[in-house]
Amino acid sequence: MRQPLVVANWKMNMTSPEASAYCQSLRGLLPDEATRAEVVVCPPFTAIETVRAGFAGSYLRVGAQNFYPASKGAYTGEVSIAMLKALDCSYVIVGHSERRLHFGETAETIGNKVKVAVEHGITPILCVGETMSERSLGLTEKVIGQQLLTCLKHLRPAELEKVVIAYEPLWAIGTGKSATAEDAAQLAKYIREKLYRLMNGNTDAMRVLYGGSVTPNNIADFARADGVDGALVGGASLDPGKFAAIVRAFEVK
Ligand code: PGA
Repeated sequence: MRQPLVVANWKMNMTSPEASAYCQSLRGLLPDEATRAEVVVCPPFTAIETVRAGFAGSYLRVGAQNFYPASKGAYTGEVSIAMLKALDCSYVIVGHSERRLHFGETAETIGNKVKVAVEHGITPILCVGETMSERSLGLTEKVIGQQLLTCLKHLRPAELEKVVIAYEPLWAIGTGKSATAEDAAQLAKYIREKLYRLMNGNTDAMRVLYGGSVTPNNIADFARADGVDGALVGGASLDPGKFAAIVRAFEVK
């Protein structure tokens, strides 16, 4: 049985003092012990230490939104995976569509990042998803299949089990227009089928999340959807009350 995973992607939001207040508030809203879902908050780099300290002594975990896949050296402005590890990050988001779009990240770079994260024992949350025009052309599965194959090509079967896949249709991100739970279930099934051979049939342990305009109002449907093991939450995760409500939806699954 896969443990649900609920991830907050704060994007470029929250100063360190704001993050500190958030952690206190979230801890007050969630039970002391993990009842079912694993909960991870991915703040900007500047608030990682604050969130780590704010969650100390609880089951809540801190993650990161990005890193640069070289070990160290002359890469002004970048942050390495070892730096994240030293701050107790257990997860890192990789291949988010905003990074592909605004920062020109290619499948090649993303594949490299996935490999480096796994090598360092940090779980990559690999985002895949189609645009609206790809969807209208009936290309959703083809596009996602291609993203999976190129971004995961450096991993061995046993390493693939350590990756979390987030299905995030681009047209649903930050638009208030989520996919349906049926769409999410269908894509979660497709993702497992696509990776079945590469993973020698061991896809049962691999978690697939849904992301894109998740809110407390629509999360119950996703939590019930077959093969959907959690959520990657952007906008709604900035409000501790909303994020806690989303986490609680997975406690009954
Ligand atoms: P959203 O973002 O929940 O604001 O749509 C999701 C994401 O980008 O991960």
